[in-house]
Amino acid sequence: MAILLCTKTNAMADWRDALLAEDASLDIRLFPDAGDPAEIEAAVCWNQHDMGELRRYPNLKLIVSMGAGVDHLLRAPGPPPGIPVARLKDARLTSAMMEWVVLNVLRFHRQDPEYRAQQAARIWNELPAPDTAKRRVGILGLGQLGTAAAHALTALGFPVMGWTRSPRKLTNVQSLHGTDGLDAMLRQTDILVCLLPLTPETRGVINARSLALLPRGAFVINAARGGHVVAQDLLAALDADHIAGAALDVFEPEPLPADHPFWGHPKVLVWPHAASITIPSSAAPQVVENIRRARDGRPLINLVDFAAGY
Ligand code: GLV
Repeated sequence: MAILLCTKTNAMADWRDALLAEDASLDIRLFPDAGDPAEIEAAVCWNQHDMGELRRYPNLKLIVSMGAGVDHLLRAPGPPPGIPVARLKDARLTSAMMEWVVLNVLRFHRQDPEYRAQQAARIWNELPAPDTAKRRVGILGLGQLGTAAAHALTALGFPVMGWTRSPRKLTNVQSLHGTDGLDAMLRQTDILVCLLPLTPETRGVINARSLALLPRGAFVINAARGGHVVAQDLLAALDADHIAGAALDVFEPEPLPADHPFWGHPKVLVWPHAASITIPSSAAPQVVENIRRARDGRPLINLVDFAAGY
């Protein structure tokens, strides 16, 4: 039985080598060279792949996302009915995301955009000292990534709130949930960080209404999915000086089109979906573990809950 890898051509070899380093006996096929479709038992995929295609493999037992997000696997037509989907919960993905969030929270908190603008104009001018204890950070989503970011930011002394779909308790983090909780958090948030899964419920969560609830001068950081942000609404809030800056790693569509206003916007920091990149050698052990479990009919790990959408 064989494993099918479906990702960017330049990432295939790293994934193959990482999986083989875990288990040299694996038979790995690189899409589109799947060989006999009946031999494919697991597909390890990223967002280049058409899920309709996976219906060609009659003995498929498992689909694995090459990242933390699975929105690309769940969107229509979705995975073949009855086939479980697993995602990655990976220490390196988590710590890289924590670093990126801290980087951008600190960048805004420590007035880096203003100091860079002053440098460009050769202006030697001290701005008022920021107060960490008064800079309230609101995190949308307290999954593995949101939780790690929340803990790192509380350790730095920021007051941190977190918003989740259903109630969630986290030490030193004020937890809010539901629609009322979302509005309450937004009203008190100076730096908003989005680390939500993209589902029909969370699509467009950062829109004109939610941006208007943020205090004037707030910042927006999005490392989740481009679909969480209504781009026109964010641009309008930036241009109205209601939002002071945005750090964006994700867009819809990706790559961000060359003529998109985000590229040249003086208040927007654009990243090419690079906040946290999956390292195949770090992720391979859990992928191979799941393949073994699927073969043996044992319970799988890091399974996606189709009803929740993540
Ligand atoms: C990256 O976007 C991921 O989902 O891991």
